[in-house]
Amino acid sequence: MTIQELDERWVMQTYPRAPVEFVRGEGARLWDSEGREYLDFLTGISVCSVGHCHPAVVEAIREQAGRLIHVSNLFYAAPGAELARRLCESSLGGRAFLCNSGTEANEAMIKLARKHAHRRGVDEPEIVVMEGGFHGRTMGSLSATPGLSGNESFAPYLPGFRAVPRDDPAALRDAVGEGTAAVMLEPIQGETGVWPLSDETILAAREACDAAGALLLFDEIQTGMGRTGSLWAYEQLPARPDVITSAKALGGGLPVGACVTTPGTSAVLEVGDHGSTFAAGPLVAGAALAALGVIDDPELLRSVREQGGRLSEALRETPGVSGVRGRGLMIGVELDDGISAPDARDRLLELGLVVNAIGATTLRLLPPLTVTGAEVDEAAALIRRALG
Ligand SMILES: Cc1ncc(COP(=O)(O)O)c(C=O)c1O
Repeated sequence: MTIQELDERWVMQTYPRAPVEFVRGEGARLWDSEGREYLDFLTGISVCSVGHCHPAVVEAIREQAGRLIHVSNLFYAAPGAELARRLCESSLGGRAFLCNSGTEANEAMIKLARKHAHRRGVDEPEIVVMEGGFHGRTMGSLSATPGLSGNESFAPYLPGFRAVPRDDPAALRDAVGEGTAAVMLEPIQGETGVWPLSDETILAAREACDAAGALLLFDEIQTGMGRTGSLWAYEQLPARPDVITSAKALGGGLPVGACVTTPGTSAVLEVGDHGSTFAAGPLVAGAALAALGVIDDPELLRSVREQGGRLSEALRETPGVSGVRGRGLMIGVELDDGISAPDARDRLLELGLVVNAIGATTLRLLPPLTVTGAEVDEAAALIRRALG
């Protein structure tokens, strides 16, 4: 049986897969089962941000795997507590709830916002979300994702979410009122095309939340962990959130998520309110500490801004490209009318560059944050060739 046959027979067919089997990775490179080399500008959708098999992450996993892989959250284990400290000290300064994925981090954030609202006497709290946002695939996160919560196959969805247009500060202000628990948004919408929200929208969200006593929630699952050139995207924005979520790159390749609060919201979730069997296990927490150690470095973050600028500039000058969006190394490439993004993605894969297509006309580039200028130039040349 080939790998395709094995997958088709035994794996639920929920992913559209490309006909490539990857067997090895190092830095920005991947190799397939036939020995072909690829430059990876998708990094597992912004998971392997320190590059594939970064020595610090590999060593942390090896060391921790030989000592202690898992204990229940009914006991103490140092790596999870240390990870929570590092996350909070590098961001909002409150406390962290650790979990295993992005969608779970958002579930924790949604529960926190609802409880916060109930404490203020709001009986039916509502969370205002943005059209074009993406927050995950479990029922709460899905209900917070307007583009997916119209799919009747999975109805009924959770009540208590209200969607407003992506960048309409007036509509946002109008939607927030006494019954609002929170406004929840991604600083740059990743899954629907790399759409940075305007400063006006961010400011309107902050002001409306302050006026209503609601919380401002940032989903930094894709924008965080250095992706935009600062450890958290909000650092470059005109307003601070009350709660953020992180996942993807956080574990250096292993599954881990986090919901991080300010001191003022750090005691909303109490004993018994939330939990997860696997969360904050020593192995994944150890890997996350190693990944944070690599990423939370001013030199690396400076390089993300520099290489992001270099790549964006090269793309803007590429025939067939009509626009470039994003910040740092989170880049959406809008193609000219008549050029199909899925076709361009397939052609790039044949040429040895891994990217993905989001929608009919947009390519998304999420290279490792450790990418070099030479690798950026190589990718830009391959894109020029594929579109030429
Ligand atoms: C902004 C954002 N939030 C949430 C998620 C869901 O994360 P996960 O797939 O780890 O559940 C994603 C995943 O793409 C995301 O980009």
